[in-house]
Amino acid sequence: MSTAPLPPLAAIPHDLVAAVDYARRAPFHLDPRCLAYLNGGAADEETLAANSAAFADFQLWPRVLADVRGGSTATALFGTPLAHPLLLAPVAYQGLFHTLGERATALAAGAMHTPFVVSTLATTRLDELASQAAAPLWFQLYWQGSREAALTLVRRAEAAGYGAIVLTVDAPLAGIRNREQRAGFALPPGLAAVNLAGLPEIPAPPANVPVFQGAMCQAPGWADIAWLRSQTSLPLLLKGILHPEDAVLARETGADGVVVSNHGGRVLDRVPASLHALPQVRARLGADFPLLLDGGIRRGSDIFTALALGADAVLIGRPYIHALAVAGALGVAHLIRVLREELEICMALCGCRSLAEIGPHCLAPA
Ligand code: FNR
Ligand code: LAC
Repeated sequence: MSTAPLPPLAAIPHDLVAAVDYARRAPFHLDPRCLAYLNGGAADEETLAANSAAFADFQLWPRVLADVRGGSTATALFGTPLAHPLLLAPVAYQGLFHTLGERATALAAGAMHTPFVVSTLATTRLDELASQAAAPLWFQLYWQGSREAALTLVRRAEAAGYGAIVLTVDAPLAGIRNREQRAGFALPPGLAAVNLAGLPEIPAPPANVPVFQGAMCQAPGWADIAWLRSQTSLPLLLKGILHPEDAVLARETGADGVVVSNHGGRVLDRVPASLHALPQVRARLGADFPLLLDGGIRRGSDIFTALALGADAVLIGRPYIHALAVAGALGVAHLIRVLREELEICMALCGCRSLAEIGPHCLAPA
């Protein structure tokens, strides 16, 4: 696949050269409560910190004088050719971060041939995004309390041409996000999950009811996954798997892929960093089952490390929202380009011409 034309880099301030620069600049563009929602994680944020720290546990193992002419980051997922193994993760309520919200993200994704996984809780209609987007769009599904409601959303995504369903399975209830609570975050008036319009509202569990009788009564189970599988011919991925046995169950239940993820450390604290969970999941699934990872990816070297440990591709969440807040669609496109270039450099200096050549042998022995 040909690579997208470069965004006009002159329009990006010269000191924005890496994901960390957008993260540093984002607070100047966001209300502090939105920032707490965006950057925060569950409880004491141990997993949030562990996600990115995990990458430093592995070092790259360069190979010199290798002939890497003609190399490329190209790959394919579910038959769709991709310029690089990087996707934009589902992030809810993007109208909080930029006036164009998901429209700006989709524009950048299109310019950079990058799949954008649109959240059930998007602030833009699925069909409106699809009618404008040049990127592959996938739909992230949050189970909506009943099979009928879930299917309504899947049918809307199918009708609008979305290329895959990513069912998030790690958040049947909201995590306890203390940073967000302390900041007093609430959705501002005028912003809503517009794609839930017309669906029966999931009744809020009565106060003081234990979660087992409350939120968990609305949650899906493996039988619902098998049923959903039977209802759509789109690729179905389960997002939010950490345990290798759950990955095996996902495959046995008919999922086409899994996303190793802890939801960016936002749901349950003190669970393993995604990167640390990855090798065991890959080992249980074997070499060929599509396996994606998110959580803590901030550099091209992080993408390289995740691929070396068994991921086929990765997703980023907060980093592209920082770029969106700072510089809109151009910022997101620029960030994607930066990450791809960083990945290319890692590949070249580790002697890899293709993603298939990246493996555990590319990491230095501990
Ligand atoms: C998320 N994430 C998320 N996941 C999902 O399946 N549906 C959603 O609607 C959301 N919403 C959401 C909002 C915000 C503000 C954040 C930061 C994250 C989780 C997301 O898809 C992804 O798993 C993590 O963001 C990955 O970690 P990093 O890249 O943020 O470290
Ligand atoms: C979050 C939910 C919406 O992480 O997934 O904020």
